[in-house]
Amino acid sequence: MNIIIIDDDPNARRTLGKILKARGFEVDEAVTGAEAVASCGAKFFNLALIDVRLPDMSGLDVVKAVRGISRDTIAIMMTAYASLDSSIEAMNNGAYSYIIKPMNMDAVLSVIDRALEGQRLSMENRNLLLDLKKSNEDLGKAYDQLKKTQRELIQLEKTAAMGRFSIYVAHEVKNPMSIVLGGLEFLETKLPHSDKNVKNTMAIVKKALLRANSVLETLLHYSKPSDSQIEMISVSDVIQPVLDMVTRSASLANIIIDTEFIQDAKISVDKNQIHQALFNLLTNAIDAMPNGGKISIKIYQAIIPGALNEKMSCVIEVADTGSGISIDNIARVSEPFFTTKDHGKVRGTGLGLFITKMIIDSYNGKLLIESTEGKGSVMKIVLPLAE
Ligand SMILES: Nc1ncnc2c1ncn2[C@@H]1O[C@H](COP(=O)(O)OP(=O)(O)OP(=O)(O)O)[C@@H](O)[C@H]1O
Ligand SMILES: [Mg+2]
Repeated sequence: MNIIIIDDDPNARRTLGKILKARGFEVDEAVTGAEAVASCGAKFFNLALIDVRLPDMSGLDVVKAVRGISRDTIAIMMTAYASLDSSIEAMNNGAYSYIIKPMNMDAVLSVIDRALEGQRLSMENRNLLLDLKKSNEDLGKAYDQLKKTQRELIQLEKTAAMGRFSIYVAHEVKNPMSIVLGGLEFLETKLPHSDKNVKNTMAIVKKALLRANSVLETLLHYSKPSDSQIEMISVSDVIQPVLDMVTRSASLANIIIDTEFIQDAKISVDKNQIHQALFNLLTNAIDAMPNGGKISIKIYQAIIPGALNEKMSCVIEVADTGSGISIDNIARVSEPFFTTKDHGKVRGTGLGLFITKMIIDSYNGKLLIESTEGKGSVMKIVLPLAE
């Protein structure tokens, strides 16, 4: 504990100093107000004993200056009866107490002890308050994070529930649909084909039914109880069969496919499912470039922020130079049945990305979608490396 005695009377300084040192305090001395202010600026004092009458400054000004430097320094005035008024004024301006000269040492020590105890408690209090404030902030952050995770979980569950519901609907609709299709085929054989209108109407109805049927087939295909065959394979081996499937339609659309095996990786998967996922990404890329362009496929290993607990993972990246996805749509593209291909030549069911995401999720992987409207898209399949 550091104490500074500020007094121009050498005897007072010496006597007080000796007693305080004997009590284990570290004691500094100052003869003038200016000297005291300089010392307080250089070092922290727990307590300043200030004579009310100093040669250069009033005790009140010293109190203000010392407490201006450090609010934690306790000021105690030393005063003769004759100048008690100034001590009281000093107390109104931040001094803790006063001691009457000539001093009764027991009284002095008990004031000092009380003052220091008060100081200790108030510093402790302040630290506790700071801790409390920090804990409160941490709690606030944890709460926000929890809310965010909860929202994400709800969204995830909603999507999953929607998926389950669609599959249920598909099952329910499949049989009546077959009956309608069968009925239509029967009517085709019975109705007079010479009537052009009838023929056209039949064709339109059949086309619509077949399209609806293909939506059901896709859903039911996905929902088939998994007889998946998990094996450890190299990513480079899963790419080629899919490339073979899309090369023709890509070249017809003037699309170049560039494949770069930066770093091969082993993954434990059912290769048919990965084929399906990749096929969906590649057909989407082709659909997005009706006037030609480029698809760049890259295979590498990386730590992807926000995916797979930031562990080294296998990444299959499919980038295109196509239409891109608008900001409004980007969050929705992996929802079941979300499609923008509901007119024109290309028709979509809106299940491609949904199924791709389900497949990747089932391997604890992540499907990342980045896109800039008018420039193109980058889809990343991030999968755990085989153990
Ligand atoms: N590479 C891409 N570039 C631009 N838009 C894309 C791309 N991939 C997906 N999209 C957008 O996301 C939508 C949903 O894609 P998704 O594959 O799920 O369904 P789809 O391609 O419309 O139909 P399908 O079920 O036949 O795949 C697309 O309709 C398209 O608007
Ligand atoms: Mg698609």
